[in-house]
Amino acid sequence: MNVWKNTMAVFGAAVVCLGTQTGMAQADGRGFLPYSNADSVARGAQVYEENCASCHGARLEGEENWRQPGADGRLPAPPHDPSGHTWHHSDMVLFRLTKFGPAALVGKGYESNMPGFDGILSDLEIAEVLAYIKSTWPQDIIEAHNARN
Ligand code: HEC
Repeated sequence: MNVWKNTMAVFGAAVVCLGTQTGMAQADGRGFLPYSNADSVARGAQVYEENCASCHGARLEGEENWRQPGADGRLPAPPHDPSGHTWHHSDMVLFRLTKFGPAALVGKGYESNMPGFDGILSDLEIAEVLAYIKSTWPQDIIEAHNARN
């Protein structure tokens, strides 16, 4: 349960709240995204379509040449499928990136085209949209991601 302790330390209140709402524990005991809960994944897919697909693509494919900054000097939206690096980040990092936006997380004047969804999506909706993304990954990527938590 070290994961829990770290999680709580980093993100106290929001996570306590999430814990009660999602039932938190996965069968594998790692992380907090409810990716094996079909209802959560279905709700997450809806949230994705309405809030993320415009940039990250309807099939999670991201934008063209997502590794190169665009004309505005900012990075395009990366894919959320296994070809991207979403799965390299722990649940908590993904949660914070989505809630507060990359600019707030990176700091030091970093500019990003991705907004934070704090005040737009609830913590549960953020967990569910990320769970939806995770649910689309093949088993080996899911396991590699579990190991990051
Ligand atoms: C307006 C466009 C836009 C929308 C809408 C958007 N994103 Fe992003 N997202 C981006 C961009 C651009 C990046 C690259 C981050 C950067 O600037 O470094 C990104 C990065 C991310 C990352 C980090 C991925 C990685 O590989 O490190 C996550 C996670 C993410 N977005 C999740 C979401 C989720 C979930 C939603 C919907 C709730 C969403 N995004 C909506 C543009 C968007």
